[in-house]
Amino acid sequence: MTTEPSHGPLPGDAESILRLAARSMFDLFSSMAQGMLLVDRAGRVVWINEGYKKFLAPLGFERTEDFVGRPVEEVIPNTLMRHVLETGKPILVDLLTNKAGTFVVSRIPLRDGSGAVIGALGMVLFDHPETTLQPLIAKFAHLQRDLDDARKELAQRRGTKYTFASFVGSSPAAVEVKRQARRAAQADSNVLLIGETGTGKELLAHAAHAASRRAAKAFVSVNVAAIPETLLEAEFFGHAPGAYTGADRKGREGKFKLADGGTLFLDEIGDMPPNLQAKLLRALQEQEFEPLGSDRVVRVDVRVVAATSRDLKALVEAGKFREDLYYRLNVLPIRVPALRERIADLEAIAETLLESIAVRTGMPPRELTPAGLASLAAHDWPGNVRELRNVLEQAAMLTDHARLGAEDFAAILPQRAGAPLSPAPRPLPQLIAELERRSIESALAATGGNKVSAAKLLGISRATLYEKLAALK
Ligand SMILES: Nc1ncnc2c1ncn2[C@@H]1O[C@H](COP(=O)(O)OP(=O)(O)OP(=O)(O)O)[C@@H](O)[C@H]1O
Ligand SMILES: [Mg+2]
Repeated sequence: MTTEPSHGPLPGDAESILRLAARSMFDLFSSMAQGMLLVDRAGRVVWINEGYKKFLAPLGFERTEDFVGRPVEEVIPNTLMRHVLETGKPILVDLLTNKAGTFVVSRIPLRDGSGAVIGALGMVLFDHPETTLQPLIAKFAHLQRDLDDARKELAQRRGTKYTFASFVGSSPAAVEVKRQARRAAQADSNVLLIGETGTGKELLAHAAHAASRRAAKAFVSVNVAAIPETLLEAEFFGHAPGAYTGADRKGREGKFKLADGGTLFLDEIGDMPPNLQAKLLRALQEQEFEPLGSDRVVRVDVRVVAATSRDLKALVEAGKFREDLYYRLNVLPIRVPALRERIADLEAIAETLLESIAVRTGMPPRELTPAGLASLAAHDWPGNVRELRNVLEQAAMLTDHARLGAEDFAAILPQRAGAPLSPAPRPLPQLIAELERRSIESALAATGGNKVSAAKLLGISRATLYEKLAALK
């Protein structure tokens, strides 16, 4: 008598069949995958399988212990694992590119018995997709180009202020920041733009909105530092009729409501007062809030792009910024490089700025001589692209030369550290404006772009500094 190996029959009840299917699928995935990793609720890597270990060296790690235990975005650049944790939605197939290469990956949230997300599973399905998936990738690139063109045209017709094409630069640092921002635009999670003053954070926020599925809806911006603390809550969440002394009798909608369906740009988020941080966190988590003086709950669908020129992590460590809000905003952090880190882009940026200055002033467009360019390239640019714009504008005002040379900048650049103004009689308002501009720039230079400290140095309020900076734009 031959004994059959003990193959059981298919179970009779749906639940057992599903459980069986789930196990089979997991076994299939795990045998197919090149590598797997698990992150916990806090976004820390808690486990990797044998297969994953081959990616450690390309990611810059020698030992498993250096990798496991760390926040996932610190060890895997560009990962969207935290996004999966935050949204609870899987990303079944995606391309991930970082220093280790390009991979086809899959990310799945893990839930406990009550349905709460307790972690996420990441799988590398294929490495080297450029060979295994060549036709698919070529098609994807082609479609992406078409889509970019169509979006650009649409944005132009709609009058969107900036698109990615407005962010001039082809240095590796510029290309990388645009790639990250474009990627962030497509994922619908919160974005944090970190960079010195004048590096183009606001420009990128506009561009990310214009390239997102929310492009047809509003882009609303709030400069947290420029609004007096007492008015911020109403500014964000609106207020009921007559909610406080001086409030509009009719009531007013806040920026959150105005941004419904679209993007809310929170500039200088590091300046958010602590009591409002808690309310913002709740609004971000629940996508709902109560306007001031009202017990009505307003539901919205808002994506936040936040920007800061301050070191948010340090603020968290100093207890000035809530850690939970930090992590909520920091889902997709993008570091915008300083101009001095991408000096190769200086010429192209200067050309664009000179063109726009010519359009604005109605004067003929200027060019740069090689020596002019060299003298600009030698400057440190604490105020970044905004400072460059000011320097070019001043030079264009001060001379009729069709090509701006080193001598045209000599009068502007070396004096910027606060040397006395030239005594030649000029209209007083112009001199005062120039003195203001220089003082602000040197204060920003002295504080490494930190506006709160710069305002202190200048003896003016943050809000006044912001007004003046806006006027200098
Ligand atoms: N890569 C770029 N190409 C062309 N123009 C740029 C670029 N980056 C910035 N600019 C211009 O420089 C100026 C400052 O940019 P933006 O306002 O976006 O800076 P920011 O990072 O938000 O600065 P702040 O922190 O001071 O608010 C704007 O006029 C913007 O159009
Ligand atoms: Mg800005």
